Amino acid sequence: MRPPLLSISGLDLDFRTRSGTVKALEGIDLDLARGEILGIVGESGSGKSVLSFAIMGLLDGAADLRVANMTFGGMSLDAGTVAEMRGRELSMIFQSPRTALNPIRKIGRQIEDVLVRHGPVPRRKARAAAIAALAQVRIPDPERRYDAYPFELSGGMCQRVMIAMALACNPTMLIADEPTTGLDVTTQAVVMDLIRDIARDRQMSVMLITHDLALAGEYCDRVLVMHAGHIVETAGVADIAAGDLHHPYSQRLFAATPASSDSLDDLAAIPGTLPDLRGTLPACRYMGRCDRARPDCAEGPLPCHRPSADHTVLCRYPL
Ligand SMILES: Nc1ncnc2c1ncn2[C@@H]1O[C@H](COP(=O)(O)OP(=O)(O)OP(=O)(O)O)[C@@H](O)[C@H]1O
Ligand SMILES: [Mg+2]
Repeated sequence: MRPPLLSISGLDLDFRTRSGTVKALEGIDLDLARGEILGIVGESGSGKSVLSFAIMGLLDGAADLRVANMTFGGMSLDAGTVAEMRGRELSMIFQSPRTALNPIRKIGRQIEDVLVRHGPVPRRKARAAAIAALAQVRIPDPERRYDAYPFELSGGMCQRVMIAMALACNPTMLIADEPTTGLDVTTQAVVMDLIRDIARDRQMSVMLITHDLALAGEYCDRVLVMHAGHIVETAGVADIAAGDLHHPYSQRLFAATPASSDSLDDLAAIPGTLPDLRGTLPACRYMGRCDRARPDCAEGPLPCHRPSADHTVLCRYPL
């Protein structure tokens, strides 16, 4: 097997807050291959966004990040190297696109900046390339939109501009945090097809964070299920389609999705809520919601089962 593009082992993240330490991520191990599309699913608050911030080196001062090992293309991904790669090899589409755009610069110019700074495009050709990038994400009338400021565009349009910018620099890895939320179904498909085609053609690796399990099933090669700051299961998309899941949480998550249009937001089928991440937590953070739990689920370390080569399950009593 080829070495992964991104490799993380033993990542823990805490936030120091006035009301205590939030144990946002614990024991995160993950590999991402070149050209692979890895879905990240889990309820709101499970740690999907903070995981991407940790990788991108975008955590604030309250964060206490500890990593045993994190490499990108074989190089250690520390604060210095990640700052160098951000916006070039490493690109991100943020969950709230409007806040990530410069409010006082025309969107066309913002895309040009990315193209000229990080890409092979000379300034005299940048305008045409920026307009082409806008057209690629199906922004109507891109010549006119080039001159728009972010406040003149709808949320969905800003999202498409962000996607165009993230792809313009031809990244090796794209982290897309809910990239298509707020887009209509047709545009969502266009944007996702575009991301997939680029992943295939240029061997771009993608981390796709989504609430939409159907979307994950359609576009991802592998899916990683997060619960309360833990990765509880990773499985190839074929196992997910076949319902071959072994962690009680992911089993519920996917089994409770009867229609392709359902998203995590609509699911009422998972009892209980995420535990409070401040204070003492049991080894298995799902045990308070789990009907298979036994007292020793509180004791760590939890075993990691491997039903097959690309399938891992963090559970003492898997299904
Ligand atoms: N700056 C911070 N200070 C303290 N706690 C934080 C901070 N940022 C995130 N958290 C906590 O970390 C946990 C994970 O948050 P995160 O935003 O990653 O969730 P998420 O899975 O992306 O949720 P959503 O689906 O709603 O986007 C939450 O409990 C959140 O309250
Ligand atoms: Mg988030």
